[in-house]
Amino acid sequence: MKNRIFSGMRPTGSLHIGHLSVLQNWAALQDEYDCFYGIVDWHALTTGYEDKLNLKALIKEIALDWLSVGIDPEKSAVFVQSHVKEHAELHLLFSMFTPMSWLERVPTYKDQIQQLGADGKDLHTYGFLGYPLLQAADILVYKAKAVPVGEDQIPHIELCREVGRRFNFLYGNVFPEPQALIGKVPLLPGVDGRKMSKSYNNAISLTASTEEVNARVKQMITDPARLRKDDPGHPEVCVVAKFHHIYTPDAERITEECTAGKVGCVACKKYLAENLNNVLEPYRVRRNFWDEDGKVERVLLEGAEKARATAAETLKEVRQAIGV
Ligand code: TRP
Ligand code: SF4
Repeated sequence: MKNRIFSGMRPTGSLHIGHLSVLQNWAALQDEYDCFYGIVDWHALTTGYEDKLNLKALIKEIALDWLSVGIDPEKSAVFVQSHVKEHAELHLLFSMFTPMSWLERVPTYKDQIQQLGADGKDLHTYGFLGYPLLQAADILVYKAKAVPVGEDQIPHIELCREVGRRFNFLYGNVFPEPQALIGKVPLLPGVDGRKMSKSYNNAISLTASTEEVNARVKQMITDPARLRKDDPGHPEVCVVAKFHHIYTPDAERITEECTAGKVGCVACKKYLAENLNNVLEPYRVRRNFWDEDGKVERVLLEGAEKARATAAETLKEVRQAIGV
């Protein structure tokens, strides 16, 4: 039997190309592992309970993002967290023996209360304190051995391991200790040079059309010292060059030409836009395939069935161990 993987994302808005490497990593793991990929809508509510999120639409959008980059429902269970109630039951049972202090000292806890508190959000809630505990339940309900996540999630995975260990100590050995699989994430700036983020309006959406990609690339900040096209350029301070390094097969050549003053910014951007569009085109085609005749809905239904079958087995063991 293959080892299992769980990972999840909150449905909070469509993804951008900064998320691409994480999803490509998820897709690459599908052959080696039995993968469970959850759209964690309950987690979205912990911070968005007053945002009137249109969760149905957001869930469909992120499911399409995943499918379009190659998450394959024939291989992986793709599903919505709230469709698999076992996550909630395990979270509740974990809450009985998890010390409050473990949750209060998770670094993201106070940070987020402060950061989102500055935007007027009150996160002094029971659910928000329990965010990482629900995450532990997401992972352990599948007895996942590995969790592909970004570096920022390491404290959450550490807490998950502690919770599993405490359960095993109290009730007998049920849970493995999952490892975080940290993929290499190239740091891509937004078109304005700041961090890429939908809220800064500087991101390139995974669903961007050819025209949108072209327009975004035109907005990219270039070497400000370069006034004429034969001035020697400084690719190290140019957003376009950072993108070339990730999306252009012969990136070295183009940056050398820039340094030598042999290529103009207009042509350089045009070339980047072409390469970016070549990367996104297969995703557009696959997205169109999935975005018809209720295919996504069917994927999520079948994904939840598959996930539920595994989660139910774990819960049976858990109830027996505890004696409920
Ligand atoms: N907290 C994760 C994030 O914000 C999302 C998440 C919820 C998750 N449950 C998970 C990630 C379980 C990995 C495993 O990115
Ligand atoms: Fe940037 Fe390209 Fe212009 Fe050089 S030529 S400054 S890499 S856009």
